[in-house]
Amino acid sequence: MAQIVGAVTTSHVPAIGKAIFKQLQNEPYWKPFFDGFVKVRRWLESARPDVVVVFYNDHGLNFFLDKMPTFAVGAAPSYTNADEGWGIPTIPAFRGEQDLSWHLINRLVAADFDITTCQEMLVDHAFTLPMALLWPDQKWPVQVVPVCINTVQFPLPSAKRCYALGEQIGNAIRGWQSDKRVLILGTGGLSHQLEGERAGFINKPFDIQFMDSLTKDPKWATQWNSAELVEKAGTQGIELLMWLATRAVLGDKAREVHRNYHIPISNTASGVMVMEPAA
Ligand code: DHB
Ligand code: FE
Repeated sequence: MAQIVGAVTTSHVPAIGKAIFKQLQNEPYWKPFFDGFVKVRRWLESARPDVVVVFYNDHGLNFFLDKMPTFAVGAAPSYTNADEGWGIPTIPAFRGEQDLSWHLINRLVAADFDITTCQEMLVDHAFTLPMALLWPDQKWPVQVVPVCINTVQFPLPSAKRCYALGEQIGNAIRGWQSDKRVLILGTGGLSHQLEGERAGFINKPFDIQFMDSLTKDPKWATQWNSAELVEKAGTQGIELLMWLATRAVLGDKAREVHRNYHIPISNTASGVMVMEPAA
């Protein structure tokens, strides 16, 4: 059976793409952010994943406001990105793990999750930049399965529902007849708000408590509805739902391997965490 080797959760600010392109990793502004990924990559060398299931939110590249699935799973042979207008260069295509895609889709629908299946799918900065942070040479040594959660157009799925989605995906991966090693990557957050009266809003105490909760009390954030989470984390901070779904895949107990938290990157409180399932 397939093995879940662990999870990485991280922010996905578009400016990271430009910084990579311009090789600004050691500039004073960027160093505290990029340094947070050195230990992540060291951990990946021993985790040796073959496949990555990526929870992220599309921001208008693949789904626009006219057609917005709450949950969508990719089942394409390959995934590319395209110009989103942030000045990020396009990067090499990702190979899809279609057997796992269809296994997840079948198991999710059987468990009453009415997901959208995508046999063609563009992936945006929320997918590509975290992948480039994990594998800077961009010679992807892994196949991928994208799982998209709507956090851009209301109504949004509840934290409770996202947690349940992650649990179900965890069960499905553990029941996948394959000897592959699976990494879960969740991207978004932490607190940030890009528009309106609270533009620039960041909530460090909440972010820290949220990161702590993922190992101590993983369902902690499910006590709030999406309006309450927006109030605490900002309109885009609600992207923390990806962290929650990712954490749920690991099962009842998980241990923290590494974290970094740095304010700000662009308008965002940026965080990265590595977790492993704990027996
Ligand atoms: C920013 C953050 C995001 O999560 C995003 O998708 C776009 C922009 C920002 O802080 O600039
Ligand atoms: Fe975002």
